[in-house]
Amino acid sequence: MKKELIVQRDPKSPISEIFRTLRTNIQFMNTTNKLKTLLITSTLPGEGKSYVSSNLAVTFAQAGKKVILIDADMRKGRLYSIFDISPRPGLSNYLSGIDLEEGEEKDITEYIQTTPISNLLVIPAGNIPPNPSELLISPQMNHLLEELKEVCDIIIIDGTPCELVTDSVILSRIVDSTVIVSAVKETKKDNLARVIANIQNVGGKLAGVVVNKVPISAKKYGEKYYYGSTSTKKVNKKAIMAMDSRRQLKSRTSDTISQNLRRNNTETVRREHEKNPKSNNENIKKVNSNETLERPKNINNSKATGPAKNADDILKQINSYLENEKKNLN
Ligand SMILES: Nc1ncnc2c1ncn2[C@@H]1O[C@H](COP(=O)(O)OP(=O)(O)OP(=O)(O)O)[C@@H](O)[C@H]1O
Ligand SMILES: [Mg+2]
Repeated sequence: MKKELIVQRDPKSPISEIFRTLRTNIQFMNTTNKLKTLLITSTLPGEGKSYVSSNLAVTFAQAGKKVILIDADMRKGRLYSIFDISPRPGLSNYLSGIDLEEGEEKDITEYIQTTPISNLLVIPAGNIPPNPSELLISPQMNHLLEELKEVCDIIIIDGTPCELVTDSVILSRIVDSTVIVSAVKETKKDNLARVIANIQNVGGKLAGVVVNKVPISAKKYGEKYYYGSTSTKKVNKKAIMAMDSRRQLKSRTSDTISQNLRRNNTETVRREHEKNPKSNNENIKKVNSNETLERPKNINNSKATGPAKNADDILKQINSYLENEKKNLN
């Protein structure tokens, strides 16, 4: 299977989530259970019809729906290579009946192939016929869809670009609904408007327009992926990260506070020095000894009454308090 089957390869990716949203939107439109055939088309080649139709088909299959994906691009259909199946026999062979012996009945099951994905069957495009549009307009196509509807929940048809050939506009008349895939920076507004009008003119129903190839920034991808996950491991990691950042914040805050305190002290010294340059030593002593500091309340050593004269005094007071406490304990 090809890498572009992203919903199969990486079901937790944000792109897979978008395909699930698309599936849900289609299911919500289908309240009466009448939407069984869905055509995927676009204005011009390369806008992502095969990419969207195959990933959408897998997404429906993952939800337990029985899906049949038909490659209706009989000119250059490549679904067989996406799903690693045989390119023929396929739709063109079934519609033209060229493989049949005289009088032989068509057996649809011979044209349907299983895939490694459970619930998903694919009808490849088959041999390139000279007249694809005529084959699609034949009653055989209608008959095929009616038969398949009986055996599956949804049929998704990968079509051709509407601006180049009429195949998809023809098909839009016989399917229940049509999705137009447009590509960012590729699809022209005028082309899109014309395709919508063409489909509506033949009586086709439009489900909507898919905007494909939207660039996703690495950050957005990361965020969505992160929030998309609910594993306990990640939650714990998140909590640990929050705790770590709190701890870091706390230590940063205390660092800043002590830095500010030191800066304030130096500032006071500087200002005092400017006021009274002669008493330089005296001022330094004053600040360092923290003369205005209140004595700790739990120090009630009788010898340590009155304001402390300098750092040595405070140290002495503490030491004597500790000595006293030790004695009391003994
Ligand atoms: N959303 C996307 N993200 C990444 N690659 C994409 C996306 N959509 C399409 N592509 C790539 O762009 C290329 C064309 O896409 P795709 O074959 O699906 O277009 P198409 O409309 O089916 O073309 P054609 O009309 O030729 O059949 C492919 O290589 C496909 O893998
Ligand atoms: Mg294609």
